[in-house]
Amino acid sequence: MKLLQGSILVIVLKSLEGGNRALLKHIIVVYYSWSGNTAKAAREIAAQAHVSPIELTVADDTFSADMYATATIAQHQIETDTLPQLTNVMPSVSPDDIVLVGGPVWHHSVATPVRQFLRQIAGFKGIVAPFYTHTGTPGTYEAEIAQLIPTAQVKSGLAVDRQTTTPQILQWLKTVAA
Ligand SMILES: Cc1cc2nc3c(=O)[nH]c(=O)nc-3n(C[C@H](O)[C@H](O)[C@H](O)COP(=O)(O)O)c2cc1C
Repeated sequence: MKLLQGSILVIVLKSLEGGNRALLKHIIVVYYSWSGNTAKAAREIAAQAHVSPIELTVADDTFSADMYATATIAQHQIETDTLPQLTNVMPSVSPDDIVLVGGPVWHHSVATPVRQFLRQIAGFKGIVAPFYTHTGTPGTYEAEIAQLIPTAQVKSGLAVDRQTTTPQILQWLKTVAA
């Protein structure tokens, strides 16, 4: 398996007959970042996948500049099912795509803009793999991603921090595409 230039990951698999077949899958990297950590992770992952990352954005007055106030706002959004509207242009997603979705852990769970993105691609049957940043308590983040997009094939995620290396990112990409 190798990564080639362009937005296409070429996976060469041995077929049952012993020959080779190529599966072409587009990688889409989308992310939400409140304070920049996940944005940095998204840029690194997208660079390794040779694609441009797509930022999920919300209106400027959606959250506070204060972390605790933002946590309260997000909790209220979840409890009242009023997830924030995304203001970015949505990527078109086809069943053969691999969607790498990044976000910060909020309240041991999935940040509300990422929840909104998963709602917008509801019914997606392709591959979804989460990457995320946190400060030590990721809680049930990955399990909740799978619950939020139950139709997809949700792969093991990658928690990214300052120690995460390029070989680790490449290994994760291979695992996601396998
Ligand atoms: C509202 C809010 C809630 C958070 N909740 C958690 C949490 O439950 N567990 C954790 O480890 N980090 C938590 N954090 C820290 C962030 O996950 C962490 O700083 C992350 O890297 C931020 O990513 P970003 O810069 O892309 O927004 C929280 C941060 C915010 C703003």
